[in-house]
Amino acid sequence: MKLRILRKLPTEEGQFWEEFEYSGPADYSVAAMLEDLNYRDDIINSKGEHVPRISWACSCLQSKCGACAMVINGTPALACETFLRDLGSSVTLQPLSKFPVISDLVVDRSGIQENLLNTSSFIKEYKESPQGEHGHQYTAAKCLKCGLCLEVCPNYKGGEHFYGALFANDCYLIATRSGVFDDSISEEYKKHFGSGCSKSFSCMDVCPMNIPTLSSMAKMNRRRS
Ligand code: FES
Repeated sequence: MKLRILRKLPTEEGQFWEEFEYSGPADYSVAAMLEDLNYRDDIINSKGEHVPRISWACSCLQSKCGACAMVINGTPALACETFLRDLGSSVTLQPLSKFPVISDLVVDRSGIQENLLNTSSFIKEYKESPQGEHGHQYTAAKCLKCGLCLEVCPNYKGGEHFYGALFANDCYLIATRSGVFDDSISEEYKKHFGSGCSKSFSCMDVCPMNIPTLSSMAKMNRRRS
């Protein structure tokens, strides 16, 4: 199998493509393949050169943490739940493009948390949830903050006022878990999501947790009206 990785060394600015020949079990995930390559005594590219180990992030290897989000054969996905058998004879790996690249496939997603902090978007006091909200609250709370939804969003640019689907789901959780609807979260929702979403809902196609952001949006819009 031919493996192409868009790489960046931590000490250098530019990115570059590097190719490898890889043969491993078809039931390996992309994460297992990267681990396999990195555990070898030497990593050798397709030109026969000894090259640095491949930087990538993981924690759970069970689709639970979101750390391994990357672009695989042009599609944003989790490396630990994408399997070689589904990818064909050529695999291309790229870091998420909407975040600063630290090294190889590792990006800095701290902007997601900064957006929440800068808008004071967190639950200040838990109160009893409104009737009938528990089911969607449970689903919305599964968000991994992996950033896959932002990668495919036509409106999210990073560093601008539109914060994307994960912010909309957090606003919904804050609004309903705080018991009484809070006007300030409604304003933040409108400013950083409601007024900028063009409703392509491509975010829902790639969400590994299958979070129906459309429902969060509808529930928030109903509360605003
Ligand atoms: S390593 Fe945790 S989601 Fe892939």
